[in-house]
Amino acid sequence: MTMTATSPPLTSPGTLRPATDDTLQSYLHAETADDSWNHEWPEEEQDIFSRLTAGVLPPQPECPRTDIIKLFELKREQGDYAKVCAPMVRYSKVAFRELIRSYNVDICYTPMILANVFRASEFARNTEYTTLPTDTPVVLQLAASNADDFAEAAVIASRAIDAVDINCGCPQRWAYKEQIGSYLMERPDIIADMMATVRRRAPELTRTVKIRINPDLKDTVELARRAIAAGAQLITVHGRTRMQKSTEPVDYDAIKLIKESVDVPVVANGNIFTLQDSHDTVAKTGCDGVMAARGLLENPCLFAGHPVTPWEAAHKYLGLAISTGTHPFVAHHHLMFMLEKRLGAWERRRFHVCNSFPAMQEYFEEHFAEC
Ligand SMILES: Cc1cc2nc3c(=O)[nH]c(=O)nc-3n(C[C@H](O)[C@H](O)[C@H](O)COP(=O)(O)O)c2cc1C
Repeated sequence: MTMTATSPPLTSPGTLRPATDDTLQSYLHAETADDSWNHEWPEEEQDIFSRLTAGVLPPQPECPRTDIIKLFELKREQGDYAKVCAPMVRYSKVAFRELIRSYNVDICYTPMILANVFRASEFARNTEYTTLPTDTPVVLQLAASNADDFAEAAVIASRAIDAVDINCGCPQRWAYKEQIGSYLMERPDIIADMMATVRRRAPELTRTVKIRINPDLKDTVELARRAIAAGAQLITVHGRTRMQKSTEPVDYDAIKLIKESVDVPVVANGNIFTLQDSHDTVAKTGCDGVMAARGLLENPCLFAGHPVTPWEAAHKYLGLAISTGTHPFVAHHHLMFMLEKRLGAWERRRFHVCNSFPAMQEYFEEHFAEC
Protein backbone atom coordinates (compact mmCIF):
# COMPACT_ATOMS: atom_id res chain seq x y z
CA MET A 1 0.00 0.00 0.00
CA THR A 2 1.24 3.43 -0.77
CA MET A 3 0.14 6.49 1.14
CA THR A 4 0.79 9.27 -1.34
CA ALA A 5 -1.70 11.62 -2.94
CA THR A 6 -4.25 8.82 -3.19
CA SER A 7 -4.87 9.02 0.58
CA PRO A 8 -6.39 12.47 1.09
CA PRO A 9 -6.87 12.37 4.88
CA LEU A 10 -3.15 11.89 5.39
CA THR A 11 -1.87 14.49 3.02
CA SER A 12 -1.92 18.22 3.06
CA PRO A 13 -0.69 20.55 0.36
CA GLY A 14 2.80 21.84 0.92
CA THR A 15 5.33 23.54 -1.25
CA LEU A 16 8.47 21.87 -2.46
CA ARG A 17 10.56 24.68 -1.15
CA PRO A 18 13.67 24.82 0.95
CA ALA A 19 14.18 27.71 3.34
CA THR A 20 15.73 30.11 0.88
CA ASP A 21 14.86 30.75 -2.75
CA ASP A 22 18.42 30.33 -3.94
CA THR A 23 18.46 26.78 -2.64
CA LEU A 24 15.12 25.93 -4.31
CA GLN A 25 16.83 24.36 -7.28
CA SER A 26 18.71 22.07 -4.88
CA TYR A 27 15.58 20.07 -4.38
CA LEU A 28 14.67 19.95 -8.01
CA HIS A 29 17.98 18.73 -9.33
CA ALA A 30 18.32 15.21 -10.54
CA GLU A 31 20.19 12.71 -8.39
CA THR A 32 23.85 13.44 -8.93
CA ALA A 33 27.01 12.17 -7.34
CA ASP A 34 27.05 9.91 -4.33
CA ASP A 35 27.55 10.62 -0.63
CA SER A 36 30.36 13.09 -0.30
CA TRP A 37 31.59 11.72 2.99
CA ASN A 38 32.45 8.25 1.83
CA HIS A 39 35.05 9.62 -0.57
CA GLU A 40 34.48 7.07 -3.27
CA TRP A 41 33.83 9.58 -6.05
CA PRO A 42 36.61 11.54 -7.69
CA GLU A 43 35.84 15.22 -7.26
CA GLU A 44 36.07 16.07 -10.95
CA GLU A 45 33.53 13.33 -11.68
CA GLN A 46 31.13 14.76 -9.08
CA ASP A 47 31.44 18.16 -10.66
CA ILE A 48 30.97 17.03 -14.26
CA PHE A 49 28.09 14.81 -13.31
CA SER A 50 26.24 17.43 -11.32
CA ARG A 51 26.56 19.90 -14.20
CA LEU A 52 25.24 17.32 -16.63
CA THR A 53 22.21 16.47 -14.57
CA ALA A 54 21.39 19.77 -12.85
CA GLY A 55 17.88 21.01 -13.52
CA VAL A 56 16.72 17.86 -15.30
CA LEU A 57 13.49 17.81 -13.34
CA PRO A 58 11.06 20.69 -13.88
CA PRO A 59 10.11 22.87 -10.88
CA GLN A 60 7.14 21.48 -8.92
CA PRO A 61 5.47 24.22 -6.89
CA GLU A 62 3.04 21.99 -4.98
CA CYS A 63 4.08 18.84 -3.20
CA PRO A 64 1.63 16.89 -1.04
CA ARG A 65 2.93 15.96 2.40
CA THR A 66 1.95 13.04 4.61
CA ASP A 67 1.22 12.90 8.32
CA ILE A 68 3.26 9.87 9.36
CA ILE A 69 1.73 9.55 12.80
CA LYS A 70 -1.77 9.48 11.28
CA LEU A 71 -0.50 6.80 8.91
CA PHE A 72 0.39 4.65 11.92
CA GLU A 73 -3.05 5.29 13.46
CA LEU A 74 -4.73 4.26 10.22
CA LYS A 75 -2.67 1.09 10.03
CA ARG A 76 -3.60 0.21 13.61
CA GLU A 77 -7.30 0.77 12.88
CA GLN A 78 -6.96 -1.56 9.89
CA GLY A 79 -5.26 -4.23 12.03
CA ASP A 80 -2.14 -3.75 9.93
CA TYR A 81 1.36 -2.37 10.48
CA ALA A 82 3.65 -0.01 8.57
CA LYS A 83 6.36 -1.30 6.23
CA VAL A 84 9.36 0.94 6.19
CA CYS A 85 12.46 1.19 4.01
CA ALA A 86 15.56 1.74 6.16
CA PRO A 87 17.99 4.58 5.68
CA MET A 88 20.83 3.22 3.55
CA VAL A 89 23.87 5.26 2.66
CA ARG A 90 24.15 5.42 -1.14
CA TYR A 91 21.03 3.33 -1.76
CA SER A 92 17.75 4.65 -0.34
CA LYS A 93 17.62 7.51 -2.85
CA VAL A 94 14.77 8.90 -4.88
CA ALA A 95 14.64 6.33 -7.72
CA PHE A 96 14.68 3.42 -5.28
CA ARG A 97 12.10 5.10 -3.06
CA GLU A 98 9.79 5.58 -6.04
CA LEU A 99 10.17 1.92 -6.99
CA ILE A 100 9.46 0.40 -3.60
CA ARG A 101 6.41 2.55 -2.93
CA SER A 102 4.70 0.66 -5.72
CA TYR A 103 5.51 -2.59 -3.87
CA ASN A 104 3.81 -1.94 -0.51
CA VAL A 105 6.45 0.15 1.24
CA ASP A 106 4.61 2.76 3.28
CA ILE A 107 7.44 5.00 4.48
CA CYS A 108 10.92 5.63 3.05
CA TYR A 109 14.00 6.99 4.81
CA THR A 110 16.72 8.87 2.94
CA PRO A 111 20.30 7.75 3.40
CA MET A 112 22.03 9.28 6.42
CA ILE A 113 23.09 12.84 5.60
CA LEU A 114 25.62 14.79 7.67
CA ALA A 115 23.68 17.71 9.14
CA ASN A 116 26.66 20.03 9.47
CA VAL A 117 27.62 19.54 5.81
CA PHE A 118 24.01 19.79 4.62
CA ARG A 119 23.43 23.07 6.42
CA ALA A 120 26.72 24.58 5.23
CA SER A 121 27.07 23.51 1.63
CA GLU A 122 24.79 24.02 -1.31
CA PHE A 123 26.74 21.39 -3.23
CA ALA A 124 25.92 18.89 -0.48
CA ARG A 125 22.25 19.83 -0.60
CA ASN A 126 22.23 19.47 -4.39
CA THR A 127 23.80 16.07 -4.31
CA GLU A 128 22.65 14.46 -1.06
CA TYR A 129 18.92 14.98 -1.19
CA THR A 130 16.80 14.86 -4.32
CA THR A 131 13.07 14.45 -4.20
CA LEU A 132 9.94 14.41 -6.33
CA PRO A 133 6.36 15.54 -5.64
CA THR A 134 5.41 11.86 -5.34
CA ASP A 135 8.24 11.20 -2.88
CA THR A 136 6.09 11.03 0.25
CA PRO A 137 6.08 9.93 3.02
CA VAL A 138 9.80 10.52 3.23
CA VAL A 139 11.94 10.80 6.36
CA LEU A 140 15.17 12.75 6.14
CA GLN A 141 17.75 10.95 8.23
CA LEU A 142 20.46 13.17 9.66
CA ALA A 143 23.66 12.40 11.48
CA ALA A 144 24.49 15.19 13.90
CA SER A 145 26.46 15.74 17.06
CA ASN A 146 24.46 18.70 18.34
CA ALA A 147 20.96 20.17 18.30
CA ASP A 148 21.89 23.26 16.34
CA ASP A 149 23.20 21.37 13.26
CA PHE A 150 20.29 18.93 13.48
CA ALA A 151 17.59 21.59 13.69
CA GLU A 152 19.12 23.90 11.09
CA ALA A 153 19.40 21.11 8.51
CA ALA A 154 15.81 20.03 9.30
CA VAL A 155 14.51 23.57 8.88
CA ILE A 156 16.27 23.97 5.51
CA ALA A 157 14.70 20.77 4.22
CA SER A 158 11.39 21.12 6.03
CA ARG A 159 9.11 21.89 3.05
CA ALA A 160 10.39 18.92 1.09
CA ILE A 161 10.19 16.18 3.76
CA ASP A 162 7.59 14.70 6.10
CA ALA A 163 9.78 13.87 9.07
CA VAL A 164 13.31 14.18 10.36
CA ASP A 165 15.21 11.34 12.02
CA ILE A 166 18.35 11.32 14.10
CA ASN A 167 20.71 8.44 13.42
CA CYS A 168 21.81 6.94 16.75
CA GLY A 169 22.90 3.63 15.27
CA CYS A 170 25.84 4.11 12.89
CA PRO A 171 28.52 1.93 14.50
CA GLN A 172 31.49 2.95 12.37
CA ARG A 173 34.61 4.10 14.17
CA TRP A 174 34.89 7.40 12.27
CA ALA A 175 31.29 8.23 13.20
CA TYR A 176 31.85 7.45 16.87
CA LYS A 177 34.90 9.74 16.83
CA GLU A 178 32.80 12.52 15.28
CA GLN A 179 30.30 12.01 18.13
CA ILE A 180 27.51 11.02 15.77
CA GLY A 181 25.59 7.78 15.15
CA SER A 182 25.85 5.21 17.91
CA TYR A 183 27.89 7.64 20.04
CA LEU A 184 24.54 9.27 20.83
CA MET A 185 23.33 6.06 22.53
CA GLU A 186 25.51 7.25 25.43
CA ARG A 187 24.17 10.81 25.28
CA PRO A 188 20.39 10.86 25.78
CA ASP A 189 20.72 14.51 26.81
CA ILE A 190 21.88 15.48 23.29
CA ILE A 191 19.10 13.47 21.64
CA ALA A 192 16.51 15.15 23.87
CA ASP A 193 17.96 18.55 23.03
CA MET A 194 17.70 17.76 19.29
CA MET A 195 14.05 16.71 19.60
CA ALA A 196 13.12 19.78 21.66
CA THR A 197 14.93 22.15 19.28
CA VAL A 198 13.26 20.77 16.14
CA ARG A 199 9.88 20.79 17.89
CA ARG A 200 10.39 24.48 18.56
CA ARG A 201 11.86 25.46 15.18
CA ALA A 202 9.89 23.25 12.76
CA PRO A 203 6.81 22.07 14.66
CA GLU A 204 5.16 20.76 11.47
CA LEU A 205 7.83 18.08 11.04
CA THR A 206 7.39 14.65 12.60
CA ARG A 207 10.40 13.83 14.80
CA THR A 208 11.84 10.34 14.85
CA VAL A 209 14.82 8.55 16.41
CA LYS A 210 16.56 5.43 15.12
CA ILE A 211 18.40 3.60 17.87
CA ARG A 212 20.23 0.37 18.56
CA ILE A 213 20.01 -1.37 21.92
CA ASN A 214 22.42 -0.75 24.77
CA PRO A 215 23.98 -3.73 26.58
CA ASP A 216 21.95 -2.55 29.59
CA LEU A 217 18.33 -2.44 28.42
CA LYS A 218 17.29 -0.12 31.23
CA ASP A 219 19.47 2.57 29.62
CA THR A 220 17.79 2.04 26.25
CA VAL A 221 14.30 2.34 27.71
CA GLU A 222 15.36 5.44 29.59
CA LEU A 223 16.86 6.95 26.43
CA ALA A 224 13.68 6.33 24.44
CA ARG A 225 11.49 7.80 27.19
CA ARG A 226 13.67 10.89 27.46
CA ALA A 227 13.61 11.44 23.70
CA ILE A 228 9.81 11.12 23.69
CA ALA A 229 9.41 13.49 26.63
CA ALA A 230 11.42 16.04 24.62
CA GLY A 231 9.33 15.61 21.45
CA ALA A 232 10.19 12.36 19.62
CA GLN A 233 7.05 10.89 18.02
CA LEU A 234 8.36 7.62 16.61
CA ILE A 235 11.17 5.27 17.63
CA THR A 236 12.84 2.70 15.39
CA VAL A 237 14.82 0.00 17.17
CA HIS A 238 17.51 -1.98 15.40
CA GLY A 239 17.69 -4.98 17.73
CA ARG A 240 21.47 -5.22 18.01
CA THR A 241 24.09 -3.42 20.09
CA ARG A 242 26.72 -1.17 18.58
CA MET A 243 29.30 -3.94 18.78
CA GLN A 244 27.16 -6.58 17.05
CA LYS A 245 27.53 -7.43 13.38
CA SER A 246 24.49 -7.80 11.13
CA THR A 247 25.17 -11.55 11.00
CA GLU A 248 24.37 -11.84 14.72
CA PRO A 249 20.80 -12.55 15.86
CA VAL A 250 18.28 -9.77 16.46
CA ASP A 251 17.13 -9.34 20.08
CA TYR A 252 13.34 -9.35 19.62
CA ASP A 253 12.71 -9.35 23.39
CA ALA A 254 14.65 -6.12 23.72
CA ILE A 255 12.57 -4.50 20.96
CA LYS A 256 9.40 -5.77 22.63
CA LEU A 257 10.45 -4.31 25.97
CA ILE A 258 11.02 -0.90 24.41
CA LYS A 259 7.68 -1.08 22.59
CA GLU A 260 5.92 -1.90 25.88
CA SER A 261 7.70 0.90 27.74
CA VAL A 262 6.67 3.83 25.54
CA ASP A 263 3.46 5.34 24.22
CA VAL A 264 4.50 6.29 20.67
CA PRO A 265 4.67 4.01 17.60
CA VAL A 266 7.73 1.74 17.56
CA VAL A 267 9.25 0.20 14.42
CA ALA A 268 11.26 -3.03 14.67
CA ASN A 269 14.37 -3.40 12.53
CA GLY A 270 16.63 -6.35 11.76
CA ASN A 271 16.74 -9.41 9.50
CA ILE A 272 13.56 -8.95 7.48
CA PHE A 273 14.08 -10.70 4.15
CA THR A 274 10.58 -12.00 3.37
CA LEU A 275 6.98 -11.00 4.02
CA GLN A 276 6.78 -13.86 6.52
CA ASP A 277 9.83 -12.46 8.42
CA SER A 278 7.97 -9.18 8.57
CA HIS A 279 4.78 -10.74 10.02
CA ASP A 280 6.88 -12.80 12.47
CA THR A 281 8.75 -9.70 13.66
CA VAL A 282 5.47 -7.95 14.47
CA ALA A 283 4.18 -11.08 16.23
CA LYS A 284 7.35 -11.31 18.36
CA THR A 285 7.65 -7.63 19.26
CA GLY A 286 4.12 -6.20 19.10
CA CYS A 287 5.54 -3.26 17.14
CA ASP A 288 3.58 -0.83 14.98
CA GLY A 289 5.84 -1.24 11.97
CA VAL A 290 8.87 -3.02 10.58
CA MET A 291 11.91 -1.65 8.78
CA ALA A 292 14.05 -3.55 6.28
CA ALA A 293 17.41 -2.65 4.77
CA ARG A 294 19.33 -5.55 3.20
CA GLY A 295 16.12 -7.44 2.46
CA LEU A 296 14.78 -4.57 0.32
CA LEU A 297 18.11 -4.14 -1.42
CA GLU A 298 18.04 -7.69 -2.69
CA ASN A 299 14.27 -7.80 -3.18
CA PRO A 300 12.51 -4.42 -3.32
CA CYS A 301 9.19 -6.29 -3.67
CA LEU A 302 9.45 -8.36 -0.49
CA PHE A 303 6.59 -6.52 1.24
CA ALA A 304 4.37 -7.31 -1.74
CA GLY A 305 5.03 -11.01 -1.11
CA HIS A 306 7.44 -11.67 -4.01
CA PRO A 307 10.06 -14.28 -3.07
CA VAL A 308 12.65 -12.76 -5.46
CA THR A 309 12.82 -9.50 -7.42
CA PRO A 310 10.51 -9.73 -10.44
CA TRP A 311 12.22 -8.77 -13.73
CA GLU A 312 9.60 -6.06 -14.20
CA ALA A 313 10.65 -4.37 -10.97
CA ALA A 314 14.33 -4.38 -11.89
CA HIS A 315 13.45 -2.99 -15.31
CA LYS A 316 11.22 -0.34 -13.75
CA TYR A 317 14.08 0.67 -11.46
CA LEU A 318 16.37 1.13 -14.46
CA GLY A 319 13.84 3.52 -16.03
CA LEU A 320 13.44 5.45 -12.77
CA ALA A 321 17.20 5.65 -12.29
CA ILE A 322 17.66 7.11 -15.76
CA SER A 323 14.78 9.56 -15.46
CA THR A 324 15.93 10.88 -12.08
CA GLY A 325 19.57 11.24 -13.11
CA THR A 326 20.83 8.56 -10.71
CA HIS A 327 24.54 7.91 -11.09
CA PRO A 328 25.00 4.76 -13.23
CA PHE A 329 27.39 3.35 -10.63
CA VAL A 330 24.63 3.45 -7.99
CA ALA A 331 22.00 2.08 -10.39
CA HIS A 332 24.31 -0.77 -11.42
CA HIS A 333 24.93 -1.69 -7.76
CA HIS A 334 21.19 -1.72 -7.08
CA LEU A 335 20.55 -3.96 -10.06
CA MET A 336 23.36 -6.33 -9.06
CA PHE A 337 21.67 -6.75 -5.66
CA MET A 338 18.21 -7.16 -7.18
CA LEU A 339 19.30 -9.71 -9.77
CA GLU A 340 21.66 -11.69 -7.53
CA LYS A 341 19.15 -14.49 -6.96
CA ARG A 342 17.81 -14.37 -10.53
CA LEU A 343 21.08 -14.87 -12.35
CA GLY A 344 23.41 -17.82 -12.47
CA ALA A 345 27.16 -17.31 -11.98
CA TRP A 346 27.81 -16.81 -15.71
CA GLU A 347 24.99 -14.29 -16.12
CA ARG A 348 26.11 -12.42 -13.03
CA ARG A 349 29.57 -12.04 -14.55
CA ARG A 350 27.99 -10.78 -17.77
CA PHE A 351 25.84 -8.24 -15.99
CA HIS A 352 28.76 -7.18 -13.79
CA VAL A 353 30.43 -5.46 -16.74
CA CYS A 354 27.23 -3.70 -17.90
CA ASN A 355 27.99 -0.60 -15.88
CA SER A 356 26.76 2.10 -18.25
CA PHE A 357 23.09 2.88 -18.81
CA PRO A 358 23.14 1.82 -22.49
CA ALA A 359 24.77 -1.50 -21.52
CA MET A 360 22.20 -2.09 -18.75
CA GLN A 361 19.35 -1.24 -21.13
CA GLU A 362 20.69 -3.59 -23.77
CA TYR A 363 21.00 -6.37 -21.21
CA PHE A 364 17.37 -5.91 -20.17
CA GLU A 365 16.16 -5.79 -23.76
CA GLU A 366 17.84 -9.14 -24.41
CA HIS A 367 16.37 -10.64 -21.26
CA PHE A 368 12.87 -9.37 -21.79
CA ALA A 369 12.99 -10.80 -25.27
CA GLU A 370 13.82 -14.18 -23.69
CA CYS A 371 11.14 -13.99 -20.96
C1 LIG B 1 24.06 -0.55 2.60
C2 LIG B 1 23.57 -0.12 3.96
C3 LIG B 1 23.59 1.22 4.29
C4 LIG B 1 23.11 1.63 5.54
N1 LIG B 1 23.07 2.97 5.82
C5 LIG B 1 22.46 3.39 6.97
C6 LIG B 1 22.19 4.76 7.20
O1 LIG B 1 22.46 5.62 6.35
N2 LIG B 1 21.59 5.10 8.38
C7 LIG B 1 21.23 4.16 9.31
O2 LIG B 1 20.66 4.52 10.35
N3 LIG B 1 21.46 2.86 9.11
C8 LIG B 1 22.03 2.45 7.96
N4 LIG B 1 22.18 1.12 7.73
C9 LIG B 1 21.65 0.16 8.71
C10 LIG B 1 20.21 -0.22 8.32
O3 LIG B 1 19.37 0.90 8.27
C11 LIG B 1 19.63 -1.26 9.30
O4 LIG B 1 19.51 -0.70 10.58
C12 LIG B 1 20.48 -2.51 9.41
O5 LIG B 1 21.00 -2.91 8.14
C13 LIG B 1 19.65 -3.68 9.96
O6 LIG B 1 18.56 -3.95 9.10
P1 LIG B 1 18.53 -5.21 8.11
O7 LIG B 1 18.80 -6.42 8.97
O8 LIG B 1 17.16 -5.17 7.51
O9 LIG B 1 19.63 -5.02 7.11
C14 LIG B 1 22.67 0.68 6.49
C15 LIG B 1 22.68 -0.68 6.15
C16 LIG B 1 23.11 -1.08 4.90
C17 LIG B 1 23.08 -2.56 4.55
